[in-house]
Amino acid sequence: MRLKDKVAIITGAANGIGFAAAKRFIEEGSKVVLADFDEVSGEEKAASLRDQGDAIFVKVDVSNRESVDRMVQSTLDRFGKVDILINNAGITRDAMLHKMSQEDFQSVLNVNLTGVFNCTQAVVPYLVENGGGKIISTSSVSGVYGNVGQTNYAAAKAAIVGMTKTWAKELGRKGINVNAVAPGFTETGMVAKVPEKVIEQMKSVIPLQRLGKPEDIANAYLYLASDESNYVNGTVLHVDGGIMM
Ligand code: CAA
Ligand code: NAI
Repeated sequence: MRLKDKVAIITGAANGIGFAAAKRFIEEGSKVVLADFDEVSGEEKAASLRDQGDAIFVKVDVSNRESVDRMVQSTLDRFGKVDILINNAGITRDAMLHKMSQEDFQSVLNVNLTGVFNCTQAVVPYLVENGGGKIISTSSVSGVYGNVGQTNYAAAKAAIVGMTKTWAKELGRKGINVNAVAPGFTETGMVAKVPEKVIEQMKSVIPLQRLGKPEDIANAYLYLASDESNYVNGTVLHVDGGIMM
């Protein structure tokens, strides 16, 4: 087992990629906190994992620091420590630049950027106390190469790359590895909103000729959370079928 007795907080784990990661981590012996805004799905998904291992749901709004502090406290109350943080929660509010409202610009930054800052700042003292750990944040192909209709989202996902490299430099001496995963278009509820013609156009330029599956991204999180990546720090792992090179 690659994560035996580790404790992982996975944000946005009630759906999509985050839930696939929770499943994968449980299979590898981790105790998992499924932390999400979506209480109905979160409770149900955590319950579905309990015959295989130790999983709890904690309701959190990552954009709210007090809520994040409560998430960390609930984790400590239940498991006594944290080893791994996966900053996976995210939203889209797509619009062309000329149509994007201030509100939609800001709400994406609040969740996708400030949320990552909040969770990381709240968890780091406990990773240090524990002698080290792993932080993995979810960027995107959109943050690295840009994407039509995603000014807000691309800004936040590019910022994750900068924060990841900064934290890798700041926290390496504390035994904490900090990395990011940049998924390409992946089959989840997030992509279900994208017009079919955009999806077809994307598929046609992906060398592997398919969208990603949530499990493809979950396996990248697993690698970066496991001891197999102990000398990997400050990297952005592209899991996108080779869409851009
Ligand atoms: N590439 C090039 N041109 C594009 C394009 C693309 N990907 N998407 C839209 N356009 C073009 C349209 O063809 C259209 O051109 P014309 O004016 O010549 O007809 C023009 O841009 C405006 O597009 P719409 O008519 O669709 O304008 P709209 O205001 O109704 O909608 C939009 C704009 C909301 C951005 C919509 O086009 C859209 O949803 N596009 C997809 C955005 C996208 O890819 N989001 C990814 C979500 S998944 C995700 O975020 C995960 C991840 O990390 C990748
Ligand atoms: P999803 O929409 O299926 O899941 C996102 C989860 O985040 C949901 O369960 C949602 O409730 C939760 N969430 C949203 N706002 C929250 C908040 N304020 N606090 C706590 N939880 C919140 O999306 P998906 O695809 O699983 O996305 C996971 C991550 O992967 C996101 O960061 C996304 O930006 C990123 N990503 C997704 C890609 C895709 O094509 N699906 C491509 C590249 C990156």
